[in-house]
Amino acid sequence: MKAQPMISIDNVSMHFGGIRAVDGASLEIAKGSITGLVGPNGAGKTTLFNMIAGAYKPTAGRILLNGEDITGLKPHQLFEKGLLRTFQIAHEFSSLSVLNNLMMVPDQQYGESLFGALFGTTRIRDEEAANLKKAEEVVDFLGLKHVKHEAAGNLSGGQKKLLELGRTMMVDAKLVLLDEVGAGVNRTLLKSIGDAIQRLNTERGYTFCMIEHDMDFISRLCDPVIVMAKGAVLTQGSADEIKSNQDVIEAYLGTGLKNRLTNNDTKQQTQTDTATNTKAARGRK
Ligand SMILES: Nc1ncnc2c1ncn2[C@@H]1O[C@H](COP(=O)(O)OP(=O)(O)OP(=O)(O)O)[C@@H](O)[C@H]1O
Ligand SMILES: [Mg+2]
Repeated sequence: MKAQPMISIDNVSMHFGGIRAVDGASLEIAKGSITGLVGPNGAGKTTLFNMIAGAYKPTAGRILLNGEDITGLKPHQLFEKGLLRTFQIAHEFSSLSVLNNLMMVPDQQYGESLFGALFGTTRIRDEEAANLKKAEEVVDFLGLKHVKHEAAGNLSGGQKKLLELGRTMMVDAKLVLLDEVGAGVNRTLLKSIGDAIQRLNTERGYTFCMIEHDMDFISRLCDPVIVMAKGAVLTQGSADEIKSNQDVIEAYLGTGLKNRLTNNDTKQQTQTDTATNTKAARGRK
């Protein structure tokens, strides 16, 4: 019998006026997987994440988490269920230190109630100590120890992406949605990010769904890979299957799938205008 998927997306749409950002998309994310989500710019990937993570309520369709209907729940309700996301543009608190950025995360979850502030001082002190210990573990895990007292705004682009990943480690995340966590990151840091994702998956049982444009990065980490185009799912398969799929190649013509030329068969057909694609160009910095 097929195991119940962690996430089931059933015929979901998100229309903004006349724009069909997502239009009847259906897909599943298996528990324990690192599922890749790729597709040309404007395919609807981020909009789909925004619906799964509760930022947008779908115009139509249903989203299930472990069989429970979560369509339209708010981000904090999903956070409590262990569903976290990172943003295409990193969201750090730039004047706070790396450690303080991490320590903010559980606070954002629970809030500081007046009752707690008045009567729970010992408990709060204990929680803060536990929180600091956790933040120290996270900076160790991610190789950010040397910058832990640095203001987050001074980090490099790649270090900020690691910090985004670190925020998901401050609570017991179960499903983490990564929106282009590897974009604009240099090779060395990209390897660190990939290693951290893999370790979180194998050692801590995190399920990931990650949007990326870099096919090498996707190939290394993801199985399966789901391809979106024009607001719907075009196909899904292993990274190798996707790279040689004619429909996928056509969907990408004229857009920039970084490192897509790894498959020799597809090389000539897909040599198009990556240089004019600003996102891919940014990713190559
Ligand atoms: N809030 C919004 N209002 C109107 N249109 C939107 C909104 N959000 C997204 N869109 C449009 O929906 C389409 C899908 O956008 P989305 O950001 O989901 O694409 P994407 O696959 O994440 O692309 P990229 O790879 O460039 O990040 C685009 O045409 C976009 O302009
Ligand atoms: Mg996007």
